[in-house]
Amino acid sequence: MRKIKVFAPASVSNVGPGFDMMGFALNKPGDEVELKLNNTNEIRIIKISGDSGRLPLNPEKNTTTGAIKSLLNKYNINIGLDVSIHKKMGIGSGLGSSAASAAAGVFALNKLLNLKLSKHELLEHAIAGEFIASGSVHADNVAPALFGGFVLIRSYIPIDIVRLDYPKNLFCSIVYPNIVINTIEARKILDKTFELKSGIAQAGNAAGLVAGLLTKNISLIGRSMVDQFAEPKRAALIPCYDEIRKAAFEVGAINCNISGSGPSMFAFSTSLKAAEKIALVMKKAAKQKGFGSKTYVSKINEKGPIVIK
Ligand code: HSE
Repeated sequence: MRKIKVFAPASVSNVGPGFDMMGFALNKPGDEVELKLNNTNEIRIIKISGDSGRLPLNPEKNTTTGAIKSLLNKYNINIGLDVSIHKKMGIGSGLGSSAASAAAGVFALNKLLNLKLSKHELLEHAIAGEFIASGSVHADNVAPALFGGFVLIRSYIPIDIVRLDYPKNLFCSIVYPNIVINTIEARKILDKTFELKSGIAQAGNAAGLVAGLLTKNISLIGRSMVDQFAEPKRAALIPCYDEIRKAAFEVGAINCNISGSGPSMFAFSTSLKAAEKIALVMKKAAKQKGFGSKTYVSKINEKGPIVIK
């Protein structure tokens, strides 16, 4: 095989109380990465589409090639690759765009070279790629982008990924308002220490969310989706935050939170019809505050990356 094209999904991280430790993959949107063996030993980015020229073509500074190089270095593999990246979601949308591209890169390389590495073995390299974009080690987007489904990062040192079962009738509505938030900046505004009572509330809600997912208890899921750490600070970065939440609740959303570091927000419901309605009202709420937006409706993606060519 000389070339391969892979799709990797967008993801929602944090999911309320799971700051840096929970995330789930979406069926749409997602990024595509194409790898072609060349006859050099150079990793070259030959094309990036859908990024309006914002992403670096320098392979040292790009998440896809950063992840690929990390893997090649670890296994002492000397090959040359022409890499094409097709961004299908906004950069800095809060939907794990850099993570999807990093996950797609290592998944594609594993298949192309028939390395037979497990997703657990690929993960550290996807994290290395994501680090280039976000400047911090967090796996709550790369892990769901790579494994699919709903993922808990139980520990970072050593990395311990737990795939969680979830109600199969969960639908996710997303609104991506036309606001720019940089993850690095959105991390800088967070408190470095927390009061014991905040830690207890966060742990209680995170445990409640996991229990709700596993026992398929929708009401428990909903009341557990409360964040003490990031959302209280980051809400101010999204001027239509309150309006979007209010609109989602008015039409029956289970809960509604910031996706990752924003500006996207997501809400859960239990039918496609409800999810479409929620997406519509969230869009209208953003519009009323003067923000154009994109919306997506998706179930939780079960598979993670797939080969498309
Ligand atoms: N958990 C990370 C954060 C995700 O909220 O900063 C960023 O994409």
